[in-house]
Amino acid sequence: MSSRMEYDFIIIGVGGIGSAALYWLSRLTGQSATKSKILGIEQFKLGHDNGSSQDISRIIRYMYHDPAYIKLAPGSLETWSEVEEESGIKLVTKTGGVFFIPNNESHEDVFGEYTKSLDAENIKYNLMDGIELNRRFPQFNTAEKDITAMYQKDAGFVNAGLANAVHAQLARSRGAEILENTKVVNITKRGNLLDIDTTNGQFTTGKLILATGCWTNDLLKFFDLQVPITVTQEQVSYFSTPNIREFLPDK
Ligand SMILES: Cc1cc2nc3c(=O)[nH]c(=O)nc-3n(C[C@H](O)[C@H](O)[C@H](O)COP(=O)(O)OP(=O)(O)OC[C@H]3O[C@@H](n4cnc5c(N)ncnc54)[C@H](O)[C@@H]3O)c2cc1C
Ligand SMILES: *[C@@H]1O[C@H](CO)[C@@H](O)[C@H](O)[C@H]1NC(C)=O
Ligand SMILES: *[C@@H]1O[C@H](CO)[C@@H](O)[C@H](O)[C@H]1NC(C)=O
Ligand SMILES: *[C@@H]1O[C@H](CO)[C@@H](O)[C@H](O)[C@H]1NC(C)=O
Repeated sequence: MSSRMEYDFIIIGVGGIGSAALYWLSRLTGQSATKSKILGIEQFKLGHDNGSSQDISRIIRYMYHDPAYIKLAPGSLETWSEVEEESGIKLVTKTGGVFFIPNNESHEDVFGEYTKSLDAENIKYNLMDGIELNRRFPQFNTAEKDITAMYQKDAGFVNAGLANAVHAQLARSRGAEILENTKVVNITKRGNLLDIDTTNGQFTTGKLILATGCWTNDLLKFFDLQVPITVTQEQVSYFSTPNIREFLPDK
């Protein structure tokens, strides 16, 4: 006899991707006649900042160097607005976005891929010099500077930490379960099922989603698989200003 709890779906990792997977899975399977049992397993506390998905802002934008990314943007804006509608909580703030670079750093090289990709996807943008940028956004004192700027009106930011909490909460309200401070330490195949061993109990599932970010190879090793991942620490910087009002989202 196995004392393992059985789930139809288990999602390992409840960061940005895992919490979204929990939400959409519980939403899609909740419409079927027999509701699925869904479990999310997270090694740390929900909202921890050891992963990639915390903080109050992640840029959402069409401005990418590759059409593959640009194609993802409309769907992501649509699905965020569905989550906002269901929760009543505002998650996306549209601000428009500006990139700018000094002209001594050949902007052909930097913006070339961007303009090619945006043109291919029929996304409108503006290129301007420092004077024009300063005229439209007086916050940037670029009038005397030899720069090129790219502006695209649909960019904005997502409140990432809040968005993850909303995904998790809506999933829970549909019956999904989430175990925090629970690390998956082994996965073994048994017929069509996968046995999942954790620091906080043993589970079984027929369908598994790994949403484990930079830890993915630690889990894939149980399937004798590895993918090429190079983990780097990324630094977000916020600049202080004596003119707070000039940098509010509606400016
Ligand atoms: C500083 C920074 C800035 C960024 N800026 C942007 C931006 O502006 N716009 C944008 O679109 N993207 C941005 N990104 C990328 C985006 O944030 C990430 O792609 C996204 O957050 C990845 O989410 P994830 O769920 O895959 O990873 P994570 O949030 O890292 O989640 C993985 C989860 O798996 C859990 N886990 C791992 N192993 C186990 C285990 N054995 N058992 C249980 N749980 C486990 C971890 O604890 C973690 O919670 C940025 C990323 C960083 C780091
Ligand atoms: C971050 O990870 C370390 C161990 O790697 C752990 O001790 C710590 O509790 C984690 N932080 C949070 C907020 O969970
Ligand atoms: C471009 O000019 C800026 C500002 O004068 C300078 O800091 C930077 O080092 C220059 N870059 C190159 C590649 O010359
Ligand atoms: C995983 O479980 C299997 C089956 O019980 C066992 O043979 C194996 O040693 C375990 N691996 C780890 C890393 O615990």
